[in-house]
Amino acid sequence: MKLPYKIRKIKKLKSKRKLVCLTAYSKPTAKILDKYCDIILVGDSVATAFYGMKSTKEIKLDTMITHSISVKKHARKSIVVFDMPFNTYRNINEAKKNSRKVFQKNYCDAVKLESNGKNFNILKSLVKSGIPVMGHIGYTPQHKGKFKPQGLNKEQEKKLINEAIKIENAGAFSIVLECINFNTARKITNSLNIPTIGIGSSNACDGQILVIDDLIGLSGFYPKFVKKYTDLEKILNNVLKRFKRDVIRSKFPLRSNTY
Ligand code: KIV
Repeated sequence: MKLPYKIRKIKKLKSKRKLVCLTAYSKPTAKILDKYCDIILVGDSVATAFYGMKSTKEIKLDTMITHSISVKKHARKSIVVFDMPFNTYRNINEAKKNSRKVFQKNYCDAVKLESNGKNFNILKSLVKSGIPVMGHIGYTPQHKGKFKPQGLNKEQEKKLINEAIKIENAGAFSIVLECINFNTARKITNSLNIPTIGIGSSNACDGQILVIDDLIGLSGFYPKFVKKYTDLEKILNNVLKRFKRDVIRSKFPLRSNTY
C-alpha cells in the first residue's frame, strides 16, 4: 500500500533536515504549532498533562478522539499522529477496529503504537490496511513500570536496535525513541531508513518531540530532557493577579467594555 504524499515527504526528510514535532490536544495550540511543526502528536500524555490523571493508561479512546478532531481541523500543514491509547491494540482485530475509528473519519493522518517488543504483526497489518503507523520504543509508558532510561548497556542496545529494525520492516514510516542513551540512539538512527524522533534520546535522532506543556512551563514536570523555553505558569500568575486586583477595585470592566 503506497503511503500518502505528506507521509512520504516526512520519510524523505531523514538526513536532509531535522524533524520538528510537538504534542497538541486542542484547537488553539494546534493552530499555532501548525506553523512550526512537521508532526503534531495527539499524545496519550493528554491524560496526565491535560486531565491530571495519574497515568497515561487511564485515557479512553473516545476522549482522545475528541481531542484529535479539534487538532486535525486546525492543522493544515503538519501531519497529525494519533497516539493509540492503552489496551486499544492488543490484537490485530482490536487494533484495526479502533484505528479505523480515527483514521477513516480523517481525524488523523497516522497512528502511533508503543512497542511491547512483540506487536510487530499488529503494526504490519495496520500498514497493510492503508493506515500509516509511527513506532515507539525505549521507555514506553504503556508497557513499562517505573521510569528508567533505556539502552544503557550492550545487551539493551542490541535488543533496541533489533526492535527498531523489526518496526521498520513492519512498515512504520517513523519511530519515536524515548529516553534512550545517546550512543544507542545514534546506532538505531544509523541502522534505519526511516526517521527517528527523539524525546530524551539526544540530538543523534532525526527529529525531536516534546510535550508542549513541558516546553512552555505549564506542566510542573521538568525532567532533564525537557528545555523549558518559557514559564507560562509565572506569566499567567502575573496576569491573574492583575485581573483579580482590577475586579476587586472595580477597574474592570471599564465603560468601554460595556454595552
Ligand atoms: O503521549 C506522548 O506525548 C508521547 C510522547 C512522549 C512521544 O507519546
